[in-house]
Amino acid sequence: KIVVLDYGSQYNQLLTRTIREFGVYSELHAHTTTVDELKKMNPVGIVLSGGTSSVGDSAAYDINPEIFTLGIPVLGVNYGTQLIVNHFGGTLEKLADRTYRQESITADTTSTLFAGQTEKQSVWMGQSAHVAQLPEGFTASAKDSAGNIAAISNDEQQVYGVQFHPEVHHSEQGKEVLRHFVFDICKAKGDWTMERFIEIEVEKIRSTVGDRKVLCALSGGVDSSVVAALIDRAIGDQLTCIFVDHGLLRKGEVESVVKTFSEQFSMHFIKVDARKRFLDKLEGITDPEQKRKIIGNEFIYVFDEESAKLDGIKFLAQGTIYADIIESGTATSATIKSHHNVGGLPEDMDFELIEPLRALFKDEVRAVGAELGLPDEIVHRQPFPGPGLGVRVLGEITEDKLEIVRDADWILRDEIAKAGLDRSIWQYFAVLPNIRSVGVRNEKRSYDYAVGIRAVHSVDGMTADWARIPWDVLEKISTRITTEVDQVNRVVYDITAKPPGTIEWE
Ligand code: XMP
Repeated sequence: KIVVLDYGSQYNQLLTRTIREFGVYSELHAHTTTVDELKKMNPVGIVLSGGTSSVGDSAAYDINPEIFTLGIPVLGVNYGTQLIVNHFGGTLEKLADRTYRQESITADTTSTLFAGQTEKQSVWMGQSAHVAQLPEGFTASAKDSAGNIAAISNDEQQVYGVQFHPEVHHSEQGKEVLRHFVFDICKAKGDWTMERFIEIEVEKIRSTVGDRKVLCALSGGVDSSVVAALIDRAIGDQLTCIFVDHGLLRKGEVESVVKTFSEQFSMHFIKVDARKRFLDKLEGITDPEQKRKIIGNEFIYVFDEESAKLDGIKFLAQGTIYADIIESGTATSATIKSHHNVGGLPEDMDFELIEPLRALFKDEVRAVGAELGLPDEIVHRQPFPGPGLGVRVLGEITEDKLEIVRDADWILRDEIAKAGLDRSIWQYFAVLPNIRSVGVRNEKRSYDYAVGIRAVHSVDGMTADWARIPWDVLEKISTRITTEVDQVNRVVYDITAKPPGTIEWE
């Protein structure tokens, strides 16, 4: 395993992810991780990541010097390199500000990091300081076009540093540099694959669970579906899944979940039809936050009631993934996730948690799902809010309005798929704003609903840009919605980025 210590760079997840792509398991950990904790993890290499400050700043994060005495190879990336230079007695010259730029470097192709590569390389730089004086025992293994040091190495101590981001694709041979570190220097094996992951987790689940029983709240989303499939693989009918149909899912989703999980797996699958219950509770409610709260709470009540009917359950399985853990902070990230899944369960439940996906990135979760035989529509499901269509019918929710948004959304998804855009747009959906407008149909005046189309590109949902769907595709969508969906006479396209908009309308 390779441990990446997180000093705050925006590219850190990508760095960890890139190392995993080599077939080497890698984890991102807080820069505050202690040496004892590091020893326990027993990594074959440590990467000190980039950061947002410079060594010497009052807000800069430190490094525990003992890390350099563990006998584990270390690679610094930008800020990490500054920490190395500083620790080993070199000097740094702080730059006025950090600018990201494409830069051409000249590499020493006889050095360990750049062996077998071309001398001239284009890299993505984002430095905040130059190396003014190399520490003793180090050599410069690359220089930039102005002659500044772009990489340092000390083969004897097995300590290396680069002043560019090897993990981003703008660094042409960056991955090769990382490979040299991971394989030649750290001697990592490279035998980590999704099949291997499944084998290991299945074993772990079996030994943890023994002959006891596991409960899982299945939402139909990627994470909970993959968890259910994985645990099923491990313990089969010792697993019970509860799927609450709150009536706020998209068209076809309930059927697809029921079909997949009741037919394809040996778990006990319980579908609770709570549609009326949710609608009753939501009657007359128009405030978005109140709607969210009601839906979240009601889910917990239903789940509680159903699980109380079951005997002898010891464990609760959850689809926590790596992003959930990283977002809750590795001590540098300021982002706090404000959303909770409907699967947020009460803390006083008397279960032990099992979270077998907690080390995986989203795309790895999908790969595991595919490997376990889940259908594409589940494995590649778009992000979907816990409160579902409850926040896409603006204002009061009625079955009539849910039907409209379901049908419009179905057409949208169909046309996006036909246009081959379903994998390239991050999220797309129909909303039903609570407006009617005047139109004309069959030479008669109509007074019907407007439907909004939202389609965005995003990486993590924190920021987003609106997708430029080709006009002819939009035209088809609009024509079909206004002809095929009753009570709709107008379609509008949302061209707002996030910020200032959010992705959902409520
Ligand atoms: P917003 O609307 O805040 O949404 O820009 C960002 C992303 O999060 C999804 N979303 C939710 N996901 N529970 C969730 O699990 C929620 O309550 C929730 N609300 C919004 C939204 O669909 C988008 O992908």
